Amino acid sequence: MNTPVLQIQNLRKTFADFTAVDTLNFQVEEGSFFSILGPSGCGKTTLLRMIAGFLEPSSGTLLIRGKDMTTTPPNRRPVNLVFQNLALFPMMNVHENIAFGLRRQGLAGREIGQKVEAMLERVHLSGFGKKNISQLSGGQKQRVAIARSLVLEPSLLLLDEPLGALDLKLREQMKIELKKLQEEVGTTFMYITHDQSEALVMSDQVAVMNKGTFEQIDTPRNLYSNPATSFVAGFVGETNILPVQVASRRPLQVATSFGLQLHATAGIDLNDSDSLALYIRPESIILEPSDSMKHINRFLLTVQNILFDGSNTKLLATIAESDHEFTVALPQNQQFAHIAKGDHIQAGVHPESCRCFVR
Ligand SMILES: Nc1ncnc2c1ncn2[C@@H]1O[C@H](COP(=O)(O)OP(=O)(O)OP(=O)(O)O)[C@@H](O)[C@H]1O
Ligand SMILES: [Mg+2]
Repeated sequence: MNTPVLQIQNLRKTFADFTAVDTLNFQVEEGSFFSILGPSGCGKTTLLRMIAGFLEPSSGTLLIRGKDMTTTPPNRRPVNLVFQNLALFPMMNVHENIAFGLRRQGLAGREIGQKVEAMLERVHLSGFGKKNISQLSGGQKQRVAIARSLVLEPSLLLLDEPLGALDLKLREQMKIELKKLQEEVGTTFMYITHDQSEALVMSDQVAVMNKGTFEQIDTPRNLYSNPATSFVAGFVGETNILPVQVASRRPLQVATSFGLQLHATAGIDLNDSDSLALYIRPESIILEPSDSMKHINRFLLTVQNILFDGSNTKLLATIAESDHEFTVALPQNQQFAHIAKGDHIQAGVHPESCRCFVR
């Protein structure tokens, strides 16, 4: 196997008595799109700044392409960082912005010109070289910022919430463009975000970060369908959460406070006294399951509202005999077009889709 582009060993950063990054161990494979997903304040930027060399770790080591770079200054690391605020030079045009780093490296003018033109083409901005930064749209500025880093051919491109300042529609567009770009250039991207949809859509691997540590590093699909911890299950994707207790152990059955019993699965051995949270994805609910469906949990829902949103339409319901809210993704066929507010409707869910975690 090839040497990973980045290897992090026991990396820690403390500020006075506060631990911002807590003993991380992981590696990033060459050519991959690796994201770090976590809520505000969990330590993402701190980690990235240590990798870029702007912040000294309190302990631990950091290897880039197998070389120890823990104490190497930022300008000697084969790493570039794209900031959230982009930090473009407003007094320079697009071409000059992209050429800046190459000039500092002392490249000849002709070579610089060729590299900048090739890069402009890559990010679909051919012909924009003479424009001023102020004449560009948000998405175009974004692409200039990325081009300016990529043109230096780093081993690793670090991106700290680079789509943060864009409006929703543009973010949707840019995340697809960024993924395509990464695939075309083959540079390893390490991408920080608190937006789970960005992380899931773009990444080969996602590390879910919480309070300075990684709770799970996995493919987007596994994070979604096999969350390792309650935090991951709650943070990645939409989910219904029910407080439950163990009712029986083999097979596992859990009970809600309002008396609903469900067959469920858990990644670990549970104790009878554990307070549990049961996670059920909205799309795992089967509406009006046929009688022939075996081994599924069945319960009654009362429809409170229909949240129409095209292909993303949902039912907001309560579980019968309770006022516990429950969201159900509505399948995209006409079969359920008759459902209306106030209806009682049979619902089913497989035990594998009912995942328990200790609260
Ligand atoms: N120089 C510093 N001195 C003291 N505390 C700091 C310093 N830098 C960061 N912190 C603290 O470390 C924690 C992690 O900060 P960090 O900027 O890494 O979070 P983040 O995950 O990037 O959050 P966001 O998504 O909001 O950007 C925060 O609680 C922050 O207050
Ligand atoms: Mg940050």
